Amino acid sequence: MSDNALYTDLSGYYDLLCADISYQAQSHGVHRLNQIFGNGGKQLLDLACGTGPHIQHFYGQGYECTGLDINQPMLDLAQQRCPEAHFQLGNMCAFEAPQTYDLITCFLYSIHYSGDRQSLQSCIQSVHKALKTGGVFCFNSVDKNHIDNRLSAKHSVEHDGSVFSFGSSWYYHGEGEKQTLKLSIEKTDAEKTQRWTDEHPMVALSFIALQTLLSPYFDVHIFEHEYEKIVSWNALSGNAIFLCVKK
Ligand SMILES: C[S@@+](CC[C@H](N)C(=O)[O-])C[C@H]1O[C@@H](n2cnc3c(N)ncnc32)[C@H](O)[C@@H]1O
Repeated sequence: MSDNALYTDLSGYYDLLCADISYQAQSHGVHRLNQIFGNGGKQLLDLACGTGPHIQHFYGQGYECTGLDINQPMLDLAQQRCPEAHFQLGNMCAFEAPQTYDLITCFLYSIHYSGDRQSLQSCIQSVHKALKTGGVFCFNSVDKNHIDNRLSAKHSVEHDGSVFSFGSSWYYHGEGEKQTLKLSIEKTDAEKTQRWTDEHPMVALSFIALQTLLSPYFDVHIFEHEYEKIVSWNALSGNAIFLCVKK
């Protein structure tokens, strides 16, 4: 199954899969960072927006919102969730923005879907071009050198008479610039259990390498992966929020 196929086939379950994520806290945290580092504007583009949960919160904070995603079924759900926003089908590694934005976001490590260094570079260039003067690019990322292949995140929810169990984990085999996001989904009802497993190939970089890619275009600030408070990255953790101000 390709990564796009998973989101197509399971788009209806995507919000259940993410039921333990505090989208409000994430959106509010990035809104605060934008207030501090940004240009004061409120035109937002959310890359790899999925079903639009962040857009819903940014809209509530007074932003004019656009979401871009490569998967139409995810965008259809986003449009239902947030009829006031604009949605665009496209690849974040090669998009032409019809306008410029004050804030461009990419949540849930989706920047890694760029796949390889060259595509990530072209994503960074597209973002730079699509930002207004002093605009902010904000995303979260994982450092390949800090991936622990033994760790996984799991949670279960009940929905419509079934129990859904979701698992996700990173895998990095120790060299090169590829890592994998492994996903597993189990749906159990009174009669049977169905299972899906999937592996998404993603670009793997150290934070230092990522900072080097971004630095020609942006002033780069790196923060600990916390949305409720603003804490500078301690240069040890493998999860971080990148806040990049357009040069
Ligand atoms: C893990 S989901 C994240 C969705 C949303 N940002 C969230 O936080 O819930 C990843 C999303 O990235 C999208 N995606 C994957 N590759 C992409 C690409 N090259 N360009 C745009 N979207 C992409 C998928 O279709 C999917 O909706």
